[in-house]
Amino acid sequence: MRTPRAPRAASGKRAIAVPRDGFVVVYPGSFDPVTFGHLDIVRRAAAQFPRVIVAVVANPSKTPMFTLAERVAMLSEACAGIRNVEVDSFAGLLVEYVRSAGPALIVKGLRIVSDFEHEFSMALLNRKLRGGADTIFMPASPEFAYVSSSSVKEVFSLGGDVAEFVPPSVLRRMHARRAKGKR
Ligand code: PNS
Repeated sequence: MRTPRAPRAASGKRAIAVPRDGFVVVYPGSFDPVTFGHLDIVRRAAAQFPRVIVAVVANPSKTPMFTLAERVAMLSEACAGIRNVEVDSFAGLLVEYVRSAGPALIVKGLRIVSDFEHEFSMALLNRKLRGGADTIFMPASPEFAYVSSSSVKEVFSLGGDVAEFVPPSVLRRMHARRAKGKR
């Protein structure tokens, strides 16, 4: 059997190989809680880059349903089967955390057009800040385009079934909170 030839550019030269060894992508978020939409981005980033750090923000803008330790634990359980994914947390500026990870890019998922406006301005800001970092965007898979942590919490609080949107361990914790009389 013939060995497949390396792809060639139109110029006849070998197509450019992007050196991705040692490159880290940081996927930041509140993950309050992690959804299948987040995990779709994690898996696809992990298929493209050698190392993915899922970075849970310690102090999200809204009061979270779950503590930082709980959000990290839920993500760690959900990502346990993906070899090149680590779960970590950070406080303070994202760009400072990203810089501490070495040569790194931020990865964000985009679900709907309104996400883009907000994410685009955050990406510009994160590039502009001292020690800034660049962002790459991944479109959400269509089946997750309408899934967000906030909508999952709202549906759950109103008695709706969210089993399709979050891993079973997250659902268990949501039920446990409800049983304790919290949200
Ligand atoms: O899941 P979220 O809540 O949309 O994630 C938002 C997050 C954590 C990515 C964003 O709030 C963030 O980067 N926070 C860290 C503080 C910071 O660096 N702010 C300046 C960039 S807006």
